Amino acid sequence: MTMTTAAVDFNHAVREIEAIVSRGGAAVGQLVVDYLHDRFPDYSWVGIYWIEGSDLVLGPWKGPEATEHTRIPVGTGVCGVAAASGKTEVVADVSKDPRYLACFPYTKSEIVVPIIRDGAVIGEIDIDGSRLDAFGPEDQRFLERVAELLVRHRR
Ligand code: SME
Repeated sequence: MTMTTAAVDFNHAVREIEAIVSRGGAAVGQLVVDYLHDRFPDYSWVGIYWIEGSDLVLGPWKGPEATEHTRIPVGTGVCGVAAASGKTEVVADVSKDPRYLACFPYTKSEIVVPIIRDGAVIGEIDIDGSRLDAFGPEDQRFLERVAELLVRHRR
């Protein structure tokens, strides 16, 4: 039997994030971002973008460096495509996806999960991975649950 970094307890993580969210306060988004970044080795850069008009605007984030993409038009990049469709985007190899907007030299894969309120996309969780194919169906299910928990915390 081999142990991998995939041996993450997603159910436990959901309960911890529920606890963060239920404590409330202005810093909920940052606390959730920090939790995801710090507890999941594959989540190298974690950010929340919120919709403002026809743009995505970067909110809380944690990672090795800041991104130049602090404002992304809906429809542009992997982030903008997910915001336009309301569907999660999983990119196993960013070098093969022409939509990808490069932020960091180490990024190899990416997942973008829309935050949806009353049928409208109000933001999204964007996570960069530093290995190929870092995000599987369990990550997607987990992060879609996290996105639901963040719905009430748009500042
Ligand atoms: N890679 C994203 C842009 C945001 S950075 O990853 C933080 C995209 O293609 O939309």
